[in-house]
Amino acid sequence: MAVKLSVNINKVALIRNSRGGNLPNLKQVAIDCEEFGADGITVHPRPDERHVRYSDLPVLKECNTTEFNIEGYPSEQFLNHVKTVKPHQCTLVPDPPGVLTSSEGWDVLRHKELLSRVIASLQDDGIRVSLFMEPDAKQMSYAKEVGADRVELYTGRYADNYHDDRELAVAEHVGAGREANLLGLGLNAGHDLNLDNLAYYCQQVPGLLEVSIGHALITDSLYYGLQNTIMMYLQKCK
Ligand code: PXP
Repeated sequence: MAVKLSVNINKVALIRNSRGGNLPNLKQVAIDCEEFGADGITVHPRPDERHVRYSDLPVLKECNTTEFNIEGYPSEQFLNHVKTVKPHQCTLVPDPPGVLTSSEGWDVLRHKELLSRVIASLQDDGIRVSLFMEPDAKQMSYAKEVGADRVELYTGRYADNYHDDRELAVAEHVGAGREANLLGLGLNAGHDLNLDNLAYYCQQVPGLLEVSIGHALITDSLYYGLQNTIMMYLQKCK
């Protein structure tokens, strides 16, 4: 079965926000991504709203015909918006306000109480919850203990090391993936995945359900166009 491709449209919102108007139109881009074959749309609202804004969330949920995934740090503000909009999936990320991008997974034991409480509360609203995690097999059981439905493995270091030694770069993801599979946790992945490193990752990591990709995909679309680019990424997910 093909791994699902959720397109992260944060960078599209960043371009829109740089001019203050509505160009590019984020809602239309989300509709078009789905039309071109994307299996889902991902957004990551941050407290300064430099990418997607909280006011975009209901609009994007309303037009969504596939799967809507909202990522972010579980602040009270973030959780209020997520619980109002009710996306299909919420991915909890431990990034502090002001950070450029997410670059590490949860230390689940350290945030056990917060995560258990937040996960149960989101699940009460029918929202599937995924935890952004380091590719560390030992940590998977902690994610299970706090009640997560899925984990999203952080692929930043895999991407960094892919061209040096891809077997080594993917090894800990294979181990973490196996453990997640054994525990019955669904498996997602994301960060710095691109047309070079995606196919190998999808082939190697067992039971991978979904990748979310933003930066490289939106960059590639400058050269190939959005429709072609999505088709190229979908090919790599097969
Ligand atoms: N997953 C998470 C948790 C993220 O924060 C991001 C970036 O917003 C991504 C996936 C996608 O990463 P990229 O933009 O490098 O494809």
